[in-house]
Amino acid sequence: MSVDTRVSYLGFDLAHPVMPSASPLTGDIDHIHALIEAGAPAIVLPSLFEEQIEHDAMAVHHGIELGAGAFGEAASGYLPELDDYNTGPSSYIELVRKAKAEAGIPVIASLNGVSHGGWTLYARVLEDEGVDALELNIYRVAADIEESSGHVESGYLHLVESVRSAIRIPLAVKIGPYFSSMASMAKRLSDAGADGLVLFNRFYQPDIDLEALQVRPNLVLSDSEESRLALRWIAILYGRVQADLAATTGIHTADDALKGLLAGASVTMMASALLRHGPDQLEIVRDGMVRWLEENEYESVNQARGSLSQMAVPDPAAFERANYMKTLMSYSPSW
Ligand SMILES: Cc1cc2nc3c(=O)[nH]c(=O)nc-3n(C[C@H](O)[C@H](O)[C@H](O)COP(=O)(O)O)c2cc1C
Repeated sequence: MSVDTRVSYLGFDLAHPVMPSASPLTGDIDHIHALIEAGAPAIVLPSLFEEQIEHDAMAVHHGIELGAGAFGEAASGYLPELDDYNTGPSSYIELVRKAKAEAGIPVIASLNGVSHGGWTLYARVLEDEGVDALELNIYRVAADIEESSGHVESGYLHLVESVRSAIRIPLAVKIGPYFSSMASMAKRLSDAGADGLVLFNRFYQPDIDLEALQVRPNLVLSDSEESRLALRWIAILYGRVQADLAATTGIHTADDALKGLLAGASVTMMASALLRHGPDQLEIVRDGMVRWLEENEYESVNQARGSLSQMAVPDPAAFERANYMKTLMSYSPSW
């Protein structure tokens, strides 16, 4: 029996639910070809950063507080030199044009910023360039001690509403997990016009260099363990928000992707695993996912999707406190 792997994400019919998220791999046309060769059903381009829109040269160097710039130290031959990555609006548009001309799969452009200036304008520019959808990466560290959570949240919603009303193509919103009421925020973002929620942005924490006595960006690629945060929230949100749910962070293996699907993700996205192992990892994950579905007698990905979401499981509380006390008490040191 062969499994029907087709899924719908942002209104696109995709061949299967394992796709590359924004990273240097999708910022280079040769790597895009390699990803398509490996079966990518859609791609998210790297972000055009707000700082670039403001013509601030190499915002990536000083974006620590915003987290925008910590891309310098990834240990992989797939990372282009920093100088070549996300270099500005004109080269971004060139990338969009090439990707659109050559990819033959949905191309999702990404905008990454913190304020309203330029967002709607560039959303329109990218729409006019023919991107199939837009992913808004709201990467914000709310560090102003005078700013309330309500103010931060209404900023997010206002931004999504403004961009939504400026464009007609599907809009996904990529956010971090740090809201007092994540579930309510997700619903409000969906109501504000997000067709998809990409969960979650991975916040890069600055490190302190004790030799140089300086604060340094420090990019460490993710591992599978990290997928659990998105897993919990996707499971909680599945069936409760209109927006499609995409899992990002910690998707490295077929098991990670399957767990995302069972929780309720429409698609699972990969960056670290592709940077670490190369584009072919996408095919390995997809094939492993299909094998597992076949072995477990699923007819389709859609049949499996959400089957272990909070709504579907007999013990919904497992996704909330996750047996907190029991988990803590079960630990015993190995020494
Ligand atoms: C080197 C590098 C560059 C990235 N660039 C972007 C970017 O431009 N825009 C964006 O939204 N996410 C960017 N990301 C984040 C990834 O798309 C992804 O959400 C994150 O790495 C978590 O997924 P992972 O665990 O598969 O790496 C980048 C990640 C890495 C490692």
